[in-house]
This record gives sequence, structure tokens and C-alpha cells, in this order.
Amino acid sequence: MKKKVLALTLTAAMMLSMAACSSGGNASDAPQDNGGGETAEVANKDKPLVWFNRQPSNSSTGELDMTALNYNDSTYYVGFDANQGAELQGTMILDYVKANIDTIDRNGDGIIGYVLAIGDIGHNDSIARTRGVRAALGTAVEKDGAIVSDPVGSNADGSATAVKDGSLEVNGKTYTVRELASQEMKNSAGATWDAATAGNAIGTWASSFGDQIDVVASNNDGMGMSMFNAWSKANKVPTFGYDANADAVAAIAEGYGGTISQHADVQAYLTLRVLRNALDGVDIDTGIGTEDDAGNVLSDDVYYYDEAARSYYALNVAVTADNYTEFTDSTKVYAPVSNQLDASAHPEKSVWLNIYNAADNFLSATYQPLLQNYDDLLNLKVEYIGGDGQTEANITNRLSNPSAYDAFAINMVKTDNAASYTALLNQ
Ligand code: BGC
Ligand code: CA
Repeated sequence: MKKKVLALTLTAAMMLSMAACSSGGNASDAPQDNGGGETAEVANKDKPLVWFNRQPSNSSTGELDMTALNYNDSTYYVGFDANQGAELQGTMILDYVKANIDTIDRNGDGIIGYVLAIGDIGHNDSIARTRGVRAALGTAVEKDGAIVSDPVGSNADGSATAVKDGSLEVNGKTYTVRELASQEMKNSAGATWDAATAGNAIGTWASSFGDQIDVVASNNDGMGMSMFNAWSKANKVPTFGYDANADAVAAIAEGYGGTISQHADVQAYLTLRVLRNALDGVDIDTGIGTEDDAGNVLSDDVYYYDEAARSYYALNVAVTADNYTEFTDSTKVYAPVSNQLDASAHPEKSVWLNIYNAADNFLSATYQPLLQNYDDLLNLKVEYIGGDGQTEANITNRLSNPSAYDAFAINMVKTDNAASYTALLNQ
């Protein structure tokens, strides 16, 4: 029988997780089964909780919200390594430019112009990608030791202060690289990463910049594909996104420049797996770094765990014309973790899970279908709630009876708002 940690103050919880980190131990204790197959009455505040896709953090500084990440001893975050992915995205674009240097400069003025669609200026994934593109293309400027990620609006003459003109030498010739324009793709109702807004923006940019635009970069595929379909495909301008949604991968055959897989197949598994393990009262590494009784295990080239941040991060892979045929089905479970759990050893449990914006391309077309494949394999009965992408209340209003669920998986609208959810579990 595991020892149950009863009351933890935040400081004690943090010390415990740090101690566990240095000793290689495991700070997680799960609600216990009473032996009769029925879970003993567990208070909502003690039930397993996983944050995913939007890491509890300060939307202006990026600082992690450790209170939310340590909400109870079965709380985790599942996402992906935003910096590693951002660097890959930047490198992918730079490599493309170099490999196509003879044709990339459409108006031949020696300036390689690009436009950038920003998803959400307060979302750490979006910030990382903006930085990654600017760093690789030489247009980044730093402030207080970090690359500025603010949108420039319009920067026709290169005078914007949030970026600078980069310089690129290929085959003995020096080119200028300029971020001609960038903006946050937020619609009038407040939804961010908004694909329709990006589709409109490229129209505006194309009419003011025309053939000065040589490359289109986007913080995600939803916006990238919207711009590709509206303009860049017809004008043969390479467009780069992120997420490896199936439609974007397929578009690589038609000139979409490339995308990044954030290994959603691994993330969706981890999202539900940490809940399963906590509910089973087993070591949190079960079926993750340690093979489970059904043979599921992940290797460390696809994810890592940061104990201090209670966070699992999947690793990213670039998807380009060279390898895209391996990524055409974005909703296929990851083979090493595709084995069905035995229902007598892992009885059905119910999970409440929300997607912050039912209209988000990545979450609705890639992540949720994956979750729906894994919930069966893990014997979890998941209730999926789709939000409007604008207000937390639209989602929290639909968690009126947390006692009806064994565990929770939460995707916040705004990364600052973890307390709107935990408040419901504290009651
Ligand atoms: C994805 C975006 C998505 C966002 C939602 C990101 O990780 O790349 O496509 O809009 O998550 O939070
Ligand atoms: Ca040019």
C-alpha cells in the first residue's frame, strides 16, 4: 500500500517534487482503489488532472504557473518541446531558401521578403515559433536577453524595431532577408490562431507587397493552409506551417513548403496515459518510459519528462518534400503505444476533457481524433467538450458536476486562467 500524502502546502509540494527529482523517485500518489473494483470516494481536488496543449503560465512573461502544475500530487502537463520545434521550423525555412536561391527572389531585388502569421501573442508555443523563424532568418532582435516576438504590423522599408533586416550569403552572393509584415491572427470575437483571419491578411499583404513576398511563414498549419489556399498556391510562393495536419501534409505535393510534426500521436497518448496511471495507482512512468503489461512503451527520442515542471514534452520532426509520405495520416496511433489494456486490470474510468476551441484545426482535426483512438485502448470513457475559443466560462459552465468524473484533462483558453478550473474542483 502506498503512503498517501494528505495535505500538501504549495511549498511542501514543490520541495517534494524537487526532492523526488534529485533522488530519481516518484512524487506521485494516486487515489487508491478500495480493492472491490469501486474507487473509494475521492474528493474532486484529489482527482488526477492533466493540463495539455496550453501550459499554465503567465501570458506576458511565459513564467510557468507552478501552483496550477502542482495542483495536487496527480497533476501533470503534456505538450511538446516548443523551442526545439521552433528551431526546426526556422531551419526548415532557411534550408528551403538556400536550396532554392536561384528562384526564390521573385522580383530580383536582392531582398528575400517574408510575411509571418502569428497565432496568439500570449501563447508560449506561438512566441517560440516567431522567435525560431526570426532567429534562423537573421531578423531577430533581442531585448532583456530574449528574442522579441512582437508583431511588426507592416515593415515595407525595414525600419521596424521588433525585427531587423537579416543578411544571407549563398553561393558568394549576399541577400537581405526582411520580415515585410506580421500580425496576430485574432478575430473580432477574440479567437486566436484564427485561420480565416490569416486568409484575409494574406490578401491585404499581397495587395500591398505583391512580388516582394517570397516566403510565407505561419505559426501553424490552420493559418498556413488558409493563406496557401487563398493566395500562395496560385502564386507559387512556398508556405510553411506547423502541426503536420493531414491537409497540410497532403499540400506539400502541391507546393506547400513544409510543416513540423509536434508528435501529436505521442502527446495524445501521454495526455490520457498519465490519468490512467494515476487512476490505477501505479508508477507514473508505466507505459511511458517503462513497458506496461500490454507492451506499450515510448523511447526517449520522442519525448522527455521534466519532473520539476511536472511536464511531459513530445519532440518535433520536420515534414518536408523529402519525407512527407510518412506523415499523411495524422490521426494514426503511434505503433509502440497502440496495445489495448486489459479491462479487468484497468477497469473503465470516466474522464472530463475539453478542447478550448472546437474550431481549431490542429486540436479538432488531429489531436481529438487521436485522443478518441487512445481512450478505447486505455479503457477511458471520455466526455469531450468543445469550447468557443474565446471565454473560459463557455467551458467551465459545462463542468457543473465534477463529482461525476474520475479525472480531468484541461485545455485552457488563456494560459493564465488555470484557477477558473481548479476553483471548480476545490468546491
Ligand atoms: C498548435 C496550434 C494550435 C494551438 C492551440 C498549438 O500547439 O500548434 O495549431 O492552434 O496549439 O492551443
Ligand atoms: Ca525580392
